[in-house]
Amino acid sequence: MEELAKRLSEKFNNSTAEEILKYFIEGNEGKVGLASSMGAEDQVLTDMIVKIDKNTKIFTLDTGRVFPETYKVLDETNKKYKINIEVYFPDNEQVENMVNTKGINLFYESVENRKMCCNIRKTEPLKRALKEIDVWVTGLRKDQSVTRFFTPLVEWDEGNQVIKVNPLLKWTEKEVWQYIRNNNVPYNVLHDKGFPSIGCQPCTRAIEKGEDIRAGRWWWELPEHKECGLHVK
Ligand code: ADX
Ligand code: SF4
Repeated sequence: MEELAKRLSEKFNNSTAEEILKYFIEGNEGKVGLASSMGAEDQVLTDMIVKIDKNTKIFTLDTGRVFPETYKVLDETNKKYKINIEVYFPDNEQVENMVNTKGINLFYESVENRKMCCNIRKTEPLKRALKEIDVWVTGLRKDQSVTRFFTPLVEWDEGNQVIKVNPLLKWTEKEVWQYIRNNNVPYNVLHDKGFPSIGCQPCTRAIEKGEDIRAGRWWWELPEHKECGLHVK
């Protein structure tokens, strides 16, 4: 499968995001899913996917700690496209055990605590969602962070046994916003308030002019630690 992913990455090197999506959606009926954080990139992909096949699975991981603005755009997106984005929640026992032993805001205390929280609130629900599909679509872009620069267009995720496809990998932030404006795509209003990258409320802050686009995510940690586990092999 690794070989296949490599071949497909080469095949789609010069293709548009729509062409890539079309290929996977049409070739894997009912087995493709977009993981959407409701961020700008994911909203672009949602718009493209709905135009190809409205029945494609689109899902979001509700950690229980996301911004009210994120719920608002979730609702607006469902209404605008007449779709039903599936919401996955973390396991209640694991969350209760974690917060009752380590505190409600444990993530500020250590990288270990932060990873435990991301693991329980995001990675475990993601794993459950991925069990239902063969192709996992994400909104990752190369220039989002140092940890994403070498990400391929198509990769084999051995742990989850799915093909992972990143159609916007080579897009710039500017191209994302051009698409949103040209296609009237609903977006999270926090993007207009200094939040280029939006995760959980306690772990995301607005950035200052000139700061890196992910500077507001887990800002108290070093850049090389700043992956939550969703995209770590
Ligand atoms: S994160 O790993 O740092 O949280 P980021 O916010 O940059 O990720 O988003 C990258 C991609 O990960 C998104 O385009 C989306 O595919 C997926 N993703 C991140 N957070 C979520 C979420 N809460 N629900 C579903 N998918 C998500
Ligand atoms: Fe927990 Fe913060 Fe990770 Fe959200 S981003 S799951 S609140 S540590």
